[in-house]
Amino acid sequence: MASRKITLLLLILFLLSLFFELHVVEATVINSIDGGLNEGCIEVERKALLEFKHGLNDPSGWLSSWVGADCCKWTGVDCNNRTGNVVKVDLRNRDFSPLGGEISGSLLDLKHLTYLDLSLNDFQGIPIPNFLGSFERLRYLNLSYAAFGGMIPPHLGNLSQLRYLDLHGGDYYNFPAPLVRVHNLNWLSGLSSLKYLDLGYVNLSKATTNWMQAVNMLPFLSELHFSGCDLSEFPHFVPFVNVTSLLVIDLSFNNFNTTLPGWLFNISTLMDLYLIEARIKGPIPHVSLRSLCNLVTLDLSYNNIGSEGIELVNGLSICSNNSLEGLYLGGNQFSGQLPDSLGHFKNLRSLYLRDNNFVGPFPNSIQHLTNLESLDVSRNSISGPIPTWIGNLLRMRQLKLSSNQMNGTIPMNWNDLQSLHTIDLSKNKLSGGIPSWMCSKSSLIWLILGENNLTGELTPSLKNCTRLSSLDLGNNRFSGEIPKWIGERMPSLEQLRLRGNMLTGDIPEQLCWLSDLHILDLAVNNLSGSIPQCLGNLTAFSSVTLSDSWPYNIHYSHSKHMELVVKGQEMELPIVKLIDLSSNNIWGEIPIGITDLLTLGTLNLSRNQLTGKIPQKIGAMQGLETLDLSCNYLSGPIPPSMSSITSLNHLNLSDNLLSGPIPITNQFSTFNDPSIYEANLGLCGLPLSTKCFTPNDDDHKDGQEEEEDENEWDMSWFFISMGLVFLVGFWVACGSLGLKKSWRQAYFRFINKTRERLYVFTAVNLARLERRIERIGVNG
Ligand SMILES: *[C@@H]1O[C@H](CO)[C@@H](O)[C@H](O)[C@H]1NC(C)=O
Ligand SMILES: *[C@@H]1O[C@H](CO)[C@@H](O)[C@H](O)[C@H]1NC(C)=O
Ligand SMILES: *[C@@H]1O[C@H](CO)[C@@H](O)[C@H](O)[C@H]1NC(C)=O
Ligand SMILES: *[C@@H]1O[C@H](CO)[C@@H](O)[C@H](O)[C@H]1NC(C)=O
Ligand SMILES: *[C@@H]1O[C@H](CO)[C@@H](O)[C@H](O)[C@H]1NC(C)=O
Ligand SMILES: *[C@@H]1O[C@H](CO)[C@@H](O)[C@H](O)[C@H]1NC(C)=O
Ligand SMILES: *[C@@H]1O[C@H](CO)[C@@H](O)[C@H](O)[C@H]1NC(C)=O
Ligand SMILES: *[C@@H]1O[C@H](CO)[C@@H](O)[C@H](O)[C@H]1NC(C)=O
Ligand SMILES: *[C@@H]1O[C@H](CO)[C@@H](O)[C@H](O)[C@H]1NC(C)=O
Ligand SMILES: *[C@@H]1O[C@H](CO)[C@@H](O)[C@H](O)[C@H]1NC(C)=O
Ligand SMILES: *[C@@H]1O[C@H](CO)[C@@H](O)[C@H](O)[C@H]1NC(C)=O
Ligand SMILES: *[C@@H]1O[C@H](CO)[C@@H](O)[C@H](O)[C@H]1NC(C)=O
Repeated sequence: MASRKITLLLLILFLLSLFFELHVVEATVINSIDGGLNEGCIEVERKALLEFKHGLNDPSGWLSSWVGADCCKWTGVDCNNRTGNVVKVDLRNRDFSPLGGEISGSLLDLKHLTYLDLSLNDFQGIPIPNFLGSFERLRYLNLSYAAFGGMIPPHLGNLSQLRYLDLHGGDYYNFPAPLVRVHNLNWLSGLSSLKYLDLGYVNLSKATTNWMQAVNMLPFLSELHFSGCDLSEFPHFVPFVNVTSLLVIDLSFNNFNTTLPGWLFNISTLMDLYLIEARIKGPIPHVSLRSLCNLVTLDLSYNNIGSEGIELVNGLSICSNNSLEGLYLGGNQFSGQLPDSLGHFKNLRSLYLRDNNFVGPFPNSIQHLTNLESLDVSRNSISGPIPTWIGNLLRMRQLKLSSNQMNGTIPMNWNDLQSLHTIDLSKNKLSGGIPSWMCSKSSLIWLILGENNLTGELTPSLKNCTRLSSLDLGNNRFSGEIPKWIGERMPSLEQLRLRGNMLTGDIPEQLCWLSDLHILDLAVNNLSGSIPQCLGNLTAFSSVTLSDSWPYNIHYSHSKHMELVVKGQEMELPIVKLIDLSSNNIWGEIPIGITDLLTLGTLNLSRNQLTGKIPQKIGAMQGLETLDLSCNYLSGPIPPSMSSITSLNHLNLSDNLLSGPIPITNQFSTFNDPSIYEANLGLCGLPLSTKCFTPNDDDHKDGQEEEEDENEWDMSWFFISMGLVFLVGFWVACGSLGLKKSWRQAYFRFINKTRERLYVFTAVNLARLERRIERIGVNG
């Protein structure tokens, strides 16, 4: 049926395109009859473009303007306004479905072409055509992110006029798969006018021994981008450094496994040097760094430069007029104290020293960095207090000091922090309360203070954090109630993590107003009351669309901010949809509305006092991967609908009052660990050893009777299992209690707990229980 519809659709599309083509032919004919010959376009070139268009797949009709006589007016085509020759074809894909197909040799008729851009399209692995090397006047060639494959043709070396060559690999979606390769780079020497060269994610492993030799033949080169090229050699000896105009070098994501060569420090024009994750080792060569006084960005993140690397910082700090704006040295096993010399980089905006082994306090010199916008020294061992002067850094936008050994209180007077949008002080030893300036003087989006020793209540000053997207106060010693205004005043809140505190009171209903909330972690507190009925109103848990702040989320998980207990272990956070209310004193029933949270991934309500049944419609929660309802007083059967949640891979229903057969279909056939069902009143069937008693269902029953029957089923299991518990319990426990102290203790803990459970169960179900017993008595 569906395929017939598609055939029909294709037929219609084909007819439409035929009609369209005819229309074009007609227009052309009319044009020539009119004698209205194009003023702007040369016929041979127009034909060449049409043929080029013909070879292309253009799913979204981007080139539909390529009709009519004046090709100079077509999308992406530019002509020399004196001669009418086509000089520019710019089909960089900005908004359309990517172009694909073939690149017709007819293009060669565009003899005056100086500019060709086919970037961000999807040519599905076809090789770059050799004939592109024949455009004698070409000055700009951009085939980046267009999914070309095969070898780069050495013919491109004939483009002696070329200024810009961008062949960055990958495709429209920027997947950096190195599809394009080269044999060698000797052909580069022909590009004697080249200023810009990007062969990022082109596999240059075959050219690894002489890439620098090839580059050194390009005296005018100002930008060199060879990132992700599988280069494994960084030549240390270059007889004469020709490339004296280089402004930008990007050799990130290669496998050099070597130290930095001395000649690199001689390129005095250099402004940006990127060597991220390039397996650079220390030590830094003993050369003067004076030549690098023009550096604006230095990014050596995630290499293995080691403790001596800090000499690089000292060496660069001697420049009298320091131009450095971005210094990125994260992940390099630097050790020792943060150098005082950092204070010399007066123009510094970003300082990233995260993931090193720095110890000791902050040097006071850093307070002279008055242009600093972003400071990240997370994951070191920096100790001492957070300096009060950090608040005098006027332009500060993000401050990340997470995972250090800092103690003392968060400074109370920060002064003028209007631009501050991210504070991450998590995983330190900070004490005291949340200072009142936090939201009155800044417009915070991320406030991450988890894993400290902070105390006090959630201060009203946070009320002013109306732009907050993430609030993490988890694992501190905060007390008091969860304020209602979190729901009222923080409409953009996406992540709320208050777990591991001493919060009391109810879960406020106002939290249901947070339509973007997709992480609600209130576990391990002293919360009481029932789960708000309106939980089903949390729309982010029922929608599949990603929220607007998706880039923030990427950033968030990348910078390893927030950790949550997911699937039984602390793990880093991808985009997660989670509700964790475990280990509180929450009572009442699980609200039916919870089954509206169709895309919720993790639901943990364990270790509370929940009663009633698991909602019948729980099967609707098709995003559920982890469901933990253990250690409650839930009763009744496991709803059969639960077996339709095929995504479910972690389930725990132990320690409840559940009864009846365990479903056996779908996902349930994979849950063969009996401990996830243990300590219930009357669950039966595999993987438990308790067999299910098959009821005699000869008679047809209507719904009402079936319900009653189910309850009867519960009851009979209640009594049978009571008997079993006592019998087995007596022999197992009493037989071994003399043997081992720890077992004995465990046993009495178990007995105590069971008594407590039975008490609550009885209290809650007393009326029903009595009726049932009466009935059984009568029937029996
Ligand atoms: C031709 O184009 C150039 C730049 O592309 C422009 O400056 C010039 O004014 C144009 N001449 C005419 C006659 O349109
Ligand atoms: C080539 O195209 C890509 C993607 O459109 C763009 O990001 C890049 O800046 C272009 N390269 C040059 C040298 O203009
Ligand atoms: C261009 O380069 C290729 C290979 O490097 C060569 O065979 C060819 O003769 C050159 N000339 C033209 C016009 O393509
Ligand atoms: C690059 O090509 C070589 C073979 O020429 C291959 O061994 C290597 O795995 C490729 N590198 C990458 C990153 O694909
Ligand atoms: C420097 O460049 C010139 C051409 O511009 C070339 O002839 C010479 O061999 C190059 N020197 C080195 C050492 O590569
Ligand atoms: C890196 O270089 C060292 C010697 O300097 C060598 O022992 C090691 O095997 C190299 N590692 C790789 C991955 O090539
Ligand atoms: C750096 O340049 C100086 C002269 O400008 C030269 O004497 C020295 O050998 C060069 N160093 C390297 C490593 O190329
Ligand atoms: C300092 O560097 C800046 C650019 O970084 C430049 O504009 C300024 O002229 C330099 N000043 C001196 C005294 O060299
Ligand atoms: C911070 O820790 C240091 C030891 O590392 C200790 O001497 C100091 O008293 C602590 N300060 C506070 C405020 O706890
Ligand atoms: C947290 O602070 C309390 C005092 O307020 C102190 O007794 C306790 O040791 C601190 N805990 C940690 C882990 O620093
Ligand atoms: C919120 O900010 C306003 C203006 O900055 C300030 O007057 C008010 O006191 C703040 N409220 C709280 C609770 O801090
Ligand atoms: C939840 O949504 C329903 C209907 O959409 C609305 O009537 C109700 O007031 C909401 N509850 C809360 C607490 O926002």
